[in-house]
Amino acid sequence: MRLFADTGDVNFLRKFAYLIDGVTTNPTIIAKEGRPFKELVQEICSIVDGPVNVEAVQKEAPAIVEEALGLSRMHKNIVVKIAMTEEGLRAVSELAKKGVKTNVTLVFSANQALLAAKAGANYVSPFIGRLDDAGQDGLLLIEEIMDIYTNYGVETEVIVASVRHPLHVVAAARIGAPIATVPPSVFELLFKHPLTDLGIKRFDDDWKKVQVEKR
Ligand code: E4P
Repeated sequence: MRLFADTGDVNFLRKFAYLIDGVTTNPTIIAKEGRPFKELVQEICSIVDGPVNVEAVQKEAPAIVEEALGLSRMHKNIVVKIAMTEEGLRAVSELAKKGVKTNVTLVFSANQALLAAKAGANYVSPFIGRLDDAGQDGLLLIEEIMDIYTNYGVETEVIVASVRHPLHVVAAARIGAPIATVPPSVFELLFKHPLTDLGIKRFDDDWKKVQVEKR
């Protein structure tokens, strides 16, 4: 499973670059960093050698295509996130012909994921945490999309997004989702288990009782 970081925090990305396969951002994430957009994206691309997802904000297909072309010129690893609308998918279809990689975002149903794949999206981003928040089972959506994509040998890859806790990552991996994008707060929790800390302490305490010969 590939792990993407759902963040624009360059210090976090530098620290964990050895484990991170790609990056996802969105307008909220970019705004949080309070830095000029292009400068931030260039820095992210210099840290992580993998897909770096940045979002187009235009609403009409021709304008989305133009914006996406501009974004994709920033770096060879740029993937353009495009919101799941009819205009958005029209743009995705155009961009696929031009060789621009796209990620259809704000996906909340299997039919949306099916249409995004048919339009030629390289990735889809179902937002499981936001579905959970709305009282629907986000992971069930991942199962549905994975089943459909497997049935038809679809090449579009699922990025499990809006991850809220470590169990989301485990469940996504068990379903076989190829990618999960994880925010820093959850990423750091993936390292931890209280029994690991307890075990280290016990071994350290016991080691102090062992006589070690000097060389
Ligand atoms: C994914 O690409 C999105 O940036 C992200 O996962 C949204 O997560 P949120 O629901 O926590 O804002």
